[in-house]
Amino acid sequence: MKNYSYAMLVALVFLGISCQPKKITYSVNSPSNINSIGFQLSAEGQPSYWVLHSLDKVIDTSYMGFEFKNQPPMLNNFEVVDHNTTSVEETWKMPWGEQREVENKYNELTLSLEEKTSPNRKLTIRFRAYDDGIGYRYEFPPQQNVDSITIMDEHTEFQLTGDHTTWWIPGDWDIYEHLYNTSKVSEIDALSKRDHPDLAQSTIPENAVNTPVTMRADNGIHLSFHEANLTDYAGMTLKVDTDKLKLTSELVGSGIHNHKLKTVLPAKSPWRTIQIADEAKDLIASRLIENLNEPSVIEDISWFSPMKYVGIWWEMHLGVSTWDMEATQDMNTFSTLDREQTSTKHGATTENTKKYIDFAAANGFGGVLVEGWNTGWDHWIGFEDREGVFDFVTPYADYDIDEVNRYAKDKGVEMIMHHETSAAPRTYDQQLEAAYDLMAKHGMHSVKTGYVGKIIPNGEYHHGQWMVNHYRKVLETAAKYKVAINAHEPIKATGLRRTYPNAISREGLRGQEFNAWASDGGNPPEHLPIVAFTRMLAGPIDFTPGAFEMRLPSKPNNQINTTLAQQLALYVVIYSPIQMACDLPENYEGNPAFQFIKDVGVDWEQSVVLNGEVGDYVTIAREERESGNWFVGGITDENARQIKVDFSFLDPDQKYEATLYSDTSESHFSTNPTAINIETLELDSSSKRTFQLAEGGGFAISLIKMD
Ligand code: NOJ
Ligand code: CA
Repeated sequence: MKNYSYAMLVALVFLGISCQPKKITYSVNSPSNINSIGFQLSAEGQPSYWVLHSLDKVIDTSYMGFEFKNQPPMLNNFEVVDHNTTSVEETWKMPWGEQREVENKYNELTLSLEEKTSPNRKLTIRFRAYDDGIGYRYEFPPQQNVDSITIMDEHTEFQLTGDHTTWWIPGDWDIYEHLYNTSKVSEIDALSKRDHPDLAQSTIPENAVNTPVTMRADNGIHLSFHEANLTDYAGMTLKVDTDKLKLTSELVGSGIHNHKLKTVLPAKSPWRTIQIADEAKDLIASRLIENLNEPSVIEDISWFSPMKYVGIWWEMHLGVSTWDMEATQDMNTFSTLDREQTSTKHGATTENTKKYIDFAAANGFGGVLVEGWNTGWDHWIGFEDREGVFDFVTPYADYDIDEVNRYAKDKGVEMIMHHETSAAPRTYDQQLEAAYDLMAKHGMHSVKTGYVGKIIPNGEYHHGQWMVNHYRKVLETAAKYKVAINAHEPIKATGLRRTYPNAISREGLRGQEFNAWASDGGNPPEHLPIVAFTRMLAGPIDFTPGAFEMRLPSKPNNQINTTLAQQLALYVVIYSPIQMACDLPENYEGNPAFQFIKDVGVDWEQSVVLNGEVGDYVTIAREERESGNWFVGGITDENARQIKVDFSFLDPDQKYEATLYSDTSESHFSTNPTAINIETLELDSSSKRTFQLAEGGGFAISLIKMD
């Protein structure tokens, strides 16, 4: 296939059948002929595909196949018994999101394969070519005498065409909370990331990476590999062949079942996806992952609205208060102290919660999160026997749940529930209905869940099929009770928010919390300029921005490595329909920069990625729904730099009162993180301005329509 030419592919329109010597090639082009997928059976009858972007081959011949338990592998001996093409062009609406309307436009090629000899098994491969990337999935149709399949391994290859620069985290079966690494494909060494001192769970069996993993080729083309619609399947990591520059699917396993997954027929794999962009910024604008999911199954979602929230949270991470009422936890070591050593400093008291409710009401926040309200916190992290410990309906004696909710309702604020499962999902599962019933009783419509620790039972992993199905059951059960889920230590986002809009946000990365206690001091300034082009391509992030006290007096070995202006910019750069203002109320009071957090939108009509390079910087402008006000955020890594903003994205018939929050000439993430300039002026669509970003800095702009 080396001689396969792009011109020929284009000539094939979106379905071509080309007869090269002895082999038949099938192909499908994206609507504007930007991307093309070719498919062919090898001489042995093994499925293979390749991908072109404009004139460039971005994925060279890559093979596909499966290994099963108690069945011969499905690798070769196939023939194509049928093929089909369709074109789809539709627009769907996000109930909330980065934009209101999403265009879903693709050409699809479906190949029905059958083994030439007994047992004549069938496999369907469905390819979709989009202008912003490609996706394909496997379908196992009903087969004679086979009700279910047990997959030992999926062999999906991505043969790269160069030693690309790659931004990767290890293929950890239990957690995504690693720092990103930047290296050539040939230098990826995921095994060196084992035994992380700060992770309560981590399993890295192979030299594999997790997805989304983003790469830049020497010619500037960007590729990001991920999966869409992860349903009743195991999460996919990508094993790296550093010699052949090839990635191969490595599904997360189960030590209990000794297989990767078991499923009944008919069955479908998740979509294997590659987002392809000439410029890094176009990756962020891509909605490929959501487009590869099914429309919403939740008829009425009007009970949830995007919101900003505060909460009893940061104070525990700072070690100022504790989750457990007995105050036996030491947040510096995650170990348990003798009760005699501690004074009572429980965070989630009725009184403290009221303080946060007052603060939320006074400053226009929609919600208040309270962690540590329920019994079980004296026996979670660091304990093996965590089954049956957490109770999701029983408050601590000093937390009056009825009174708190009554008070919040009075003040027009909604309480946000917290369910830390300590990775004992069966305990949570048993209490799901009762827990959501309690929420319904109090009119609570969102919950932050958590899965810290090794999964019980031992042998299951956070990203394996068993947990994928647990996370799904939680979403589905929650929907019945009009509850939205913000999962921490989650399964990765794969665009399911389209089908289940109550999957509002999730963690699944090294969040702000690491700045408070990570043994390496905190997230380096390049972290978020990488996250925007990797993790964020999967979906909304509960990063919990908004730290104003960067030096963390209670944590002498830790500091937040951003300027204050960058913390503000994160409300625009990082997308989530729930955005926390994480810091303590007293750190906001009287600081004029707080005005930006009060003003900034959380739900967007449209988003425009103005510029960006992976790991260096990124600037995004977003138009708020209903108000038509715009907000802009830009962030940089450890390098100071100038960013030019051309405001031509604004409505040409409108003048805006702009407030600019930017770094000063003295700002620096390490030596002077809180210095900030605030300036108000009038701007319109003809305006242009240059911003000087400090090391680890940023800028944020609110553009409020003037009459
Ligand atoms: C880890 C979560 O990421 C964090 O936000 C939460 O406070 C703790 N678990 C406790 O549940
Ligand atoms: Ca976490």
